[in-house]
Amino acid sequence: MKTLLSADDLRTGVVSMADRINRSQAGKPLTVIGVLTGSLVLLADLIRLLDMPSRVGVVQASSYREGIKRGPLTINVELMPKIATRDVLLVDDIFDTGHTLSEVMGLMKRLQPASIRSCVLLRKVGCSQVDVEPDFAAFDIPDVFVVGYGLDYCDAYRNLPYLAALEPGEISRDSE
Ligand code: IMP
Ligand code: MG
Repeated sequence: MKTLLSADDLRTGVVSMADRINRSQAGKPLTVIGVLTGSLVLLADLIRLLDMPSRVGVVQASSYREGIKRGPLTINVELMPKIATRDVLLVDDIFDTGHTLSEVMGLMKRLQPASIRSCVLLRKVGCSQVDVEPDFAAFDIPDVFVVGYGLDYCDAYRNLPYLAALEPGEISRDSE
């Protein structure tokens, strides 16, 4: 495993992204919705840096069922608070192909929020397969499989305080 971003690097990137969100929201109330499970660590850090009155909720979306292989996406909105007429910020860990963010945004738009924008910790460069882009991204990274700061490989490593890239030998053949 190779460290890509230290805990200090992550902090700097998240603080800078929070500043941009604060400036653009200009004190207006915001409903912040984290995509479970990968956004948990970012969500916890980000909401403590926001300076407007905020509501916080979660939505569950999962596509990586095993290892690094993308399976069909399932979205569970049962835990999500009311978003109609509210300014919403969707928070996810990483924008890879973009299918997760694009589908969750599409579903949430149908619930008629006043506005909806998205932010991610990481954007994988050159991997997008959709025509939406996150509104805020803390870091652009190359196309490598990363873990830590909420991101997992087979449900492990979410608790690492830094971000690391798995080496090819650390990814099981079955999961590719
Ligand atoms: P997308 O739908 O391809 O953009 O993938 C988004 C989801 O896939 C993220 O919310 C992550 O859960 C997962 N994912 C994509 N790339 C990685 C990675 O490098 N490490 C861990 N999870 C990833
Ligand atoms: Mg995820």
